[in-house]
Amino acid sequence: MYTQLFFILFITSTLFALEPIAPLPTTLEHIDLDKAKLGRTLFFDPQLSSDGTISCHSCHNFDNGGADTRAVSLGVNNREGSIQSPTVYNAVYNFKQFWNGRAANLNEQAKGPLSDHAEMNMSPTELEARLNTNLSYKEVFKKIYHTKKITSEQIIDAITEFEKALITPNSRFDQYLRDEIALTPEEKKGYETFKSLGCITCHNGINVGANSFQKIGLFRPYPYNAKYQDRYALTQKEYHKNVFKVPTLRNISLSAPYFHDARAKTLNDAIEKMAYHNLGIDITKQEVQSIVMFLKSLEGERPKILDVP
Ligand code: HEC
Ligand code: HEC
Repeated sequence: MYTQLFFILFITSTLFALEPIAPLPTTLEHIDLDKAKLGRTLFFDPQLSSDGTISCHSCHNFDNGGADTRAVSLGVNNREGSIQSPTVYNAVYNFKQFWNGRAANLNEQAKGPLSDHAEMNMSPTELEARLNTNLSYKEVFKKIYHTKKITSEQIIDAITEFEKALITPNSRFDQYLRDEIALTPEEKKGYETFKSLGCITCHNGINVGANSFQKIGLFRPYPYNAKYQDRYALTQKEYHKNVFKVPTLRNISLSAPYFHDARAKTLNDAIEKMAYHNLGIDITKQEVQSIVMFLKSLEGERPKILDVP
C-alpha cells in the first residue's frame, strides 16, 4: 500500500517536472549527408516541374520560414493552388503530412507536389526521363544508389533525406528547456499565458503542434469552404468539416500569412482568432502581445544542411 502510494507520488512528481514541449535535436546524426545534399539540389531545381519554372523552394521558401508568403501558391503555368503552403521546417516531426494528414510520412508526401497538376505536374516516368538525360545528376545518383538509371523512388528518397535535415535547433525556448538560459520576463509571461489560456492543449510536443487533428471553430464557428481539403474531404463525416492537422508553432513568427485559408495576415491576428474560435474567449491585447513574445522565442537557427558545402 505504502509502496503503491510512493510510486504514484513518484510518477506525478516526474510528470510535473516534464514540460509539455520538448527541444529539437541539435545534431544531424542520423542523416546520410551525401543523400541530403543531393536532395537539396533537387529541392531547388525547377527542372523537376513540367515547364521548368517551379521547384519545391518556389512554395517553401527558406527565407519565409520554409513556407509561402502568398495565400495560395502558384505552380506550373501560373496555376493557382488551393490552400496555404505550410512550412517544411521540422516537418519530419509532423505526425502526418498535409493539412488533412492524407500522407503518412515525408516520402509519401513528396509524390503529391511532383505529380499535382497545379504544382509541378510531372509523372514519375516524365521525371525519370528528364533527369536521366542530365549527366551530372546521373553521376551523383550512381555514386549514392549504385544503379545505372535514376528512378523516381531515388529522387523522392533523396528529397526526403534533405527534409529530415531541415531542423531549426537552438531556439531560445529550446535553450531554456535544456536549462542553458533563462527566458526574459516577457517570454516567460507569454509561455505562462499560452499554458493558462489553453493553447497548450493543442499546440504541444516537440513541434508545438502537428501531433493531432483539431477543428478550427471548436467554440465559435469558423467560415467553412469546401474548396479546402480538410478531414471531411477524406472521410465525408460531417463532424470532420474544418478539421485540420494542428500546425507546428516553431518559427511561426516567420511564416505569415496564417491558417489554411490565409485569413489571418499577422501573428497577432492569428492569436486573437485562435482565442476567439478555439477557446471561446476574447483575449486582451496584452495577452496577445505576451504570447507573441513567447512564440518568437521558438525561432530556431537556420538548418545546418542549407549551408553544408
Ligand atoms: C506550387 C506550390 C508547391 C510546390 C511546388 C511544392 N509544394 Fe509542398 N506544399 C504546398 C502546399 C499548398 C501544401 C499544403 C497542401 C495540403 O495540405 O493540402 C504543401 C505541403 C507540403 C508538405 C507538408 C507539410 C505539412 O505540414 O503537412 C511538405 C513536407 C511539402 N509540401 C514538401 C514539398 C516538396 C518536397 C516539394 C517538391 C518536391 C514541394 N513541397 C513542392 C505547396 C507546394
Ligand atoms: C482546440 C485546439 C486548438 C487550440 C486550443 C488552439 N489552437 Fe491554434 N490551431 C489549431 C488548429 C487546428 C490550427 C489550424 C487552423 C487552420 O488553419 O484551419 C491552428 C492554427 C494556429 C496558428 C496558425 C498556424 C499556421 O501555420 O497557420 C497559430 C499562430 C495558433 N494556432 C496559435 C494558437 C494560440 C496562441 C492559441 C491559444 C490562444 C491556440 N492556437 C489555441 C488548434 C488549436
